[in-house]
Amino acid sequence: MAARASITAVLLAVLLGYVYNSYVQRALVVMGAFRQPGSTELAPGEFVVIDGTTHCEDLHHHESTGLIFTACEGFQGARLKWFPPIDHFFEPSHPELVKGNLQVIDPKTLKAQVLELEGFSGPFVTHGIDVIDDPKKPKGEAVYIFAVNHRPNPKHYGENGDANAPQCYSVIELFHHVVGSGKARHVRTIWHPLITTPNDIFAMSPTSFLVTNDHYFRTGLPRMMEDVLSLIARTNTVHVQLQDLEPVKSDDAGVHASVALDKLHNLNGLGHGRTEDEVFVTGCSDGVIHVGKISEGKDAEKIISVSKTIEFSSPVDNPTYFKDPYANKTFDASGVVGSGPTRAIDWFSNKGLEDVLDPSMVWMASPRSKGEGAAKGEEDWDLKLIFQDDGQRVRTSSASVLLAIDPKEEQGRRRAWLFVSSYQANNAIAVKIDL
Ligand SMILES: *[C@@H]1O[C@H](CO)[C@@H](O)[C@H](O)[C@H]1NC(C)=O
Repeated sequence: MAARASITAVLLAVLLGYVYNSYVQRALVVMGAFRQPGSTELAPGEFVVIDGTTHCEDLHHHESTGLIFTACEGFQGARLKWFPPIDHFFEPSHPELVKGNLQVIDPKTLKAQVLELEGFSGPFVTHGIDVIDDPKKPKGEAVYIFAVNHRPNPKHYGENGDANAPQCYSVIELFHHVVGSGKARHVRTIWHPLITTPNDIFAMSPTSFLVTNDHYFRTGLPRMMEDVLSLIARTNTVHVQLQDLEPVKSDDAGVHASVALDKLHNLNGLGHGRTEDEVFVTGCSDGVIHVGKISEGKDAEKIISVSKTIEFSSPVDNPTYFKDPYANKTFDASGVVGSGPTRAIDWFSNKGLEDVLDPSMVWMASPRSKGEGAAKGEEDWDLKLIFQDDGQRVRTSSASVLLAIDPKEEQGRRRAWLFVSSYQANNAIAVKIDL
């Protein structure tokens, strides 16, 4: 059934191709239908496995602390038991679903530390996160961490459960972390009816954030159709505002939400841009990053207007902007980094397997001042493949973060550590690459 699904996907795409010729060509490129996995060669010492980082879907480099934050699972294979974002609803009461965790990776030692969670007992099924400074503390001293949590829905699975209720009750957990403490204190759980299939978060303050819903259909065939057909453009990004950070009695207390961006296909990862009001939103399975500008409407509700859609040659999951700290007039490696599977065509047949090689590609899109689009007043972006793996080093890639290395330490060469992880990878990895 699963293997047949990818064949169905191709047939559907080909069929539609009679109507939409360029659409099908692009779909075949993004799905990697004819692409063989590649593997970037690395010298010894230029590939490090970060122990204990199981199935970390998202990675964030937090500037003022210099640390990388991530959210992971507590046991290998967790995604095969229960992970609604890939339509896995098999073991909602698996006892180890409570072991999801937040971790801090020190980019200097390449070691990860699991944060002890205070006032929180799970279940914790992790996905996208965001991290921002605590505005009441000097920069770099303390942060707020927002994390998506895909809990099984007690209304579906509980006693007298309603089979029509959604299987998943997905919420956002808010934590406060004092840097170096090894702990994160649970502030509250956040839910609103507009938060349905949350994927990633873009925090603007401790009480205001954006969240993507990645699917309109939650499960089954409609969802599979939605995955492969970008014509089913029904996902959105929601702006959530909290009244304050006081303790609450219910998950929806003091929560206001409004739609910030609507009717696009498979909105997925969110990334901070070059300015405070710039946001990158990926349309994951279409392999695109929408460049958006955030503005404010009535009642402080945020609205995103898309000015440009950058096309990548594979699906792109969580985007991160890399600002090159060693840029000069002739060489500036800044750009938006995005990654995804080399062969999305195999995704349906592979996602439920325990041991499989899922290759991935990491791309960098750099803004170019002059180009075809410039005449139309649009910004052009150059696309470059910066790393690829055949699945031996990391099982697919849903997040990638680039950290420049001081050229003095590399005999003047412009190099960087690239951190790669995914929701199905046994561990996050760090690799040293040329910029
Ligand atoms: C800028 O950096 C590049 C790459 O490190 C180097 O080759 C070049 O000489 C630098 N240019 C200037 C003007 O410093």
